[in-house]
Amino acid sequence: MASSTAQRQRILVTGGSGQVGWSLKHTLQPLGDVHAPERGEMDLTSAASIREAIRAFKPHWIVNPAAYTAVDKAEAEPELAFAVNRSAVEVMAEEAKALGAAFIHYSTDYVFDGSSSTPYVEEDSTNPLGVYGRSKLEGEQALAASGVPHLIFRTSWVYGSRGKNFLLTILKLAREREELRIVADQHGAPTWCGDLARITAEAMLALQATSHAQCLPAAEVLAPLSGIYHACNGGETTWYGFAAEAVRQMRLQSQPNQSTAAYARLVPITTAEYPTPAKRPQSSRLDCGKLRRRLDVSMLDWQPALSRALSEL
Ligand SMILES: NC(=O)c1ccc[n+]([C@@H]2O[C@H](COP(=O)([O-])OP(=O)(O)OC[C@H]3O[C@@H](n4cnc5c(N)ncnc54)[C@H](OP(=O)(O)O)[C@@H]3O)[C@@H](O)[C@H]2O)c1
Repeated sequence: MASSTAQRQRILVTGGSGQVGWSLKHTLQPLGDVHAPERGEMDLTSAASIREAIRAFKPHWIVNPAAYTAVDKAEAEPELAFAVNRSAVEVMAEEAKALGAAFIHYSTDYVFDGSSSTPYVEEDSTNPLGVYGRSKLEGEQALAASGVPHLIFRTSWVYGSRGKNFLLTILKLAREREELRIVADQHGAPTWCGDLARITAEAMLALQATSHAQCLPAAEVLAPLSGIYHACNGGETTWYGFAAEAVRQMRLQSQPNQSTAAYARLVPITTAEYPTPAKRPQSSRLDCGKLRRRLDVSMLDWQPALSRALSEL
């Protein structure tokens, strides 16, 4: 048994082209042999493709940030959202079980309806407002029902220095337009994908260390810690507050000879003034206390995390 735990761990990361997946692909390198198959090699809408990719690589860990994340589009294509966010998780969990692998998964604040006046804890009742949230919730439930040792990191408002996200959109538009109207009555915490990858790596590293020390497979060490963990950057703001802080930090980074008037004027608006196909939770605030208490990892506050992300641009 000692030799099996001492061997270099094989880590399968899905969605390596996505925000969190790309960060994980790089951050997890020191922990083992990372394989991040692209959609062509592992298509999450095909059970056969998923099984084939997993059986070929035989991972000790499956880390699954891949998801159908188009919140508004999901209202029009629920089958696809459920295929990727629920059925694929079910199949991956079956394969993980057969291999004795540990499973790390990501979920969303959109499993809640946003009506709570206090930050949500993991045990709070879920009530998704749209297809995306429902499909992610069913993915969580499928993983929990599988009995595979797992961590589910529920996060919120993810952004990074690449891909498609609110931060990059705002910075682009703020350069192009004179005025930007931004929703200021939804509350939550923007979360930098780099920080989510860091806490994932720290949690996995601690589990690997225990696994080596006790000569037990990582999945066995993970089993008693299995469950949902809220994992977002600390503090809270609104989309408007996030945009304002991003522009403020960009101004600070600008050279003195660059005009500070080069950014749009930001105007706070209500959700009602910006209708979207999918309803969003009014409050996305997540209490991350369990992450600190049980996994001994904690995330940066959202403003320093933003500053780290901006320094990567
Ligand atoms: N973005 C947010 O604001 C946010 C908020 C809360 C929670 N989350 C959760 O955090 C996790 C990571 O989100 P993210 O923002 O990093 O996502 P993302 O940037 O949208 O990336 C999604 C990834 O999933 C892959 N994917 C989608 N459908 C696939 C399929 N059929 N087969 C194979 N790969 C497929 C995409 O591949 P392609 O490049 O080929 O499309 C991409 O690599 C997800 O679980 C998401 O639900 C995100």
